[in-house]
Amino acid sequence: MGDVTRHIGLSLGADICWPLCFEHMIKRLDLRIPHGGDTVRFEVERVTIEPFDLRQPVKYDLVVDRLTHWFHTSREWIKKGILMDDLYVFNNPWSIQANEKHTSYCAMMKLGMPIPETWMIPPKGYAPGPDVKPTLQRYAKLFDLGKVGDTIGWPMFLKPYDGGGWRAVTRVKNAREAWKAYEESDTAVMHAQASVEGYDRFVRTIGFGPQTHNVLYNPDAPLHDRYTMETDFLSREDAEHLRKVTLTINAFFGWDFNSCESLRKGGVWHPIDFANPCPDSQVTSLHFHFPWMVKSYLRWSIFCAATKRKMARTLDWEPFYQVAAMDLPYAEKLDRYAAIADARFETARFEEFCAKHLGHLDEVASEFFTTAEAKEAVRQKVTALYPAHEVERFTELFWSRIQAWRAAGCP
Ligand SMILES: Nc1ncnc2c1ncn2[C@@H]1O[C@H](COP(=O)(O)OP(=O)(O)O)[C@@H](O)[C@H]1O
Ligand SMILES: [Mg+2]
Repeated sequence: MGDVTRHIGLSLGADICWPLCFEHMIKRLDLRIPHGGDTVRFEVERVTIEPFDLRQPVKYDLVVDRLTHWFHTSREWIKKGILMDDLYVFNNPWSIQANEKHTSYCAMMKLGMPIPETWMIPPKGYAPGPDVKPTLQRYAKLFDLGKVGDTIGWPMFLKPYDGGGWRAVTRVKNAREAWKAYEESDTAVMHAQASVEGYDRFVRTIGFGPQTHNVLYNPDAPLHDRYTMETDFLSREDAEHLRKVTLTINAFFGWDFNSCESLRKGGVWHPIDFANPCPDSQVTSLHFHFPWMVKSYLRWSIFCAATKRKMARTLDWEPFYQVAAMDLPYAEKLDRYAAIADARFETARFEEFCAKHLGHLDEVASEFFTTAEAKEAVRQKVTALYPAHEVERFTELFWSRIQAWRAAGCP
C-alpha cells in the first residue's frame, strides 16, 4: 500500500494540439487517486518508434494511439503489448485493421439501423498480378452502373468502401455522372449509396468511452467552419437516440473513441459514416468543441489507467445478434443494444469515478484555456497547417472560439 504510478503513453503522429493540452492539464489536475488501498499518480510520456524485442516488457498501463490505421511498426508494437503485457489501448488495433466502413454498414444494417441502401461495386482498375486476368475473365460479370443507380434511386453517392477524409466521394445525379466518377475511381473498391436528400439535421456525434458529444455539422462550409458552434439544436430525445446509436457502434467494434455522422429526415436518423476509429481531434476543425475533446481524452484515460480496467482483447458480437433476432421494434432493440454498450463501457462506474475524483476538471479546463500554454498549442497546430501569412489570423479565430466556449459555460 503506497504510491503507485500509472504510465500513460501517447502514440502520436501529426497530432500537436490535443497532446500538449493533455500533458499540461494532467499536471494541473495534480491527481492522487485512492484505489484499492494505494494512491495512484500518473505519468504521461510520448511513445517513441524504435526496434523492440518481442519479449521486452511494455512500461505503459495505457496507450492512447493515433497511428494504428497507417503506421505498422507502432500497430504491431501495440498488438504485442496487448497480447503479452496486459496493455490497455484505444483503439483495439485488430478491430481497426479488420473493420472497414463497409463492415460497419453491414453490421449496423443487421442490427436494424436505417442505413441508406448501399451496393458494392467491383473496381474499375487492378494492380497488375499474375492472377488478375484469369480471375476477371472467368468470373467478373459485366454490369451496368446505370441500372444499379435506377435500383437505388438518383441521386446517389459513389464513395470508397473504406472511407476516410472525404476521399473520392461524389454525388451523382444520373448514369453519365456515375460512369464518369467510376472511371475516375481507379483501383478503389466503391460503394454506391442512396443519398439522404432533404435532411433537416446533420450531426456528428463523438463518442469517447461512455461520453458522447453532438455537433451540428455543415458539410458545405470550409473545413474550419464545418463543426458549427450551435448548442441548442437537438431535443433531449434526439440527443439520447444519437448517444445510443454511437455507443452501440463503438461497443460492437470495441472502439473506445470514434465518431458517427447521422442525417435526420422525416424524424428518422440515418447513420451514414461511423467507422472513424481515429476521430478528428484537431483544434483547427473542432475549435469550440476542442476543450470537450481534451477533457474526454483525460477522463477516459485516467479512468481506464487508474482502475486498471481490462481491455477486451477480442470482440463479442453475439449479445447484439441475440437482441437483433428478437421480435421487437427498432427503438426497443436500440435500448437493449445501448444497455450492452453501457455495461461494456461501465457508464455508471465511470460517472461515479469522475464525480469523486475529477470534480475539479471543468474548473481546471476553463482556467487552462485562458493561458499562454493553451494558446501556444493552438498556434503550433495552425502553424503546421496554414501558410505563414494566415497563422496569426487563424490562431486568433480558433482562440476566440475557445473563449466563446468558456462564455457559453463550457459545454
Ligand atoms: N448517403 C448519403 N446521403 C447524403 N449525404 C452523403 C451520403 N453519403 C455521403 N454523404 C456526404 O458526403 C460526405 C462524405 O461522405 P462520408 O461517407 O462521410 O465519407 P468519409 O468517410 O470520406 O468521411 C458526408 O459527410 C456527406 O456530406
Ligand atoms: Mg465522413
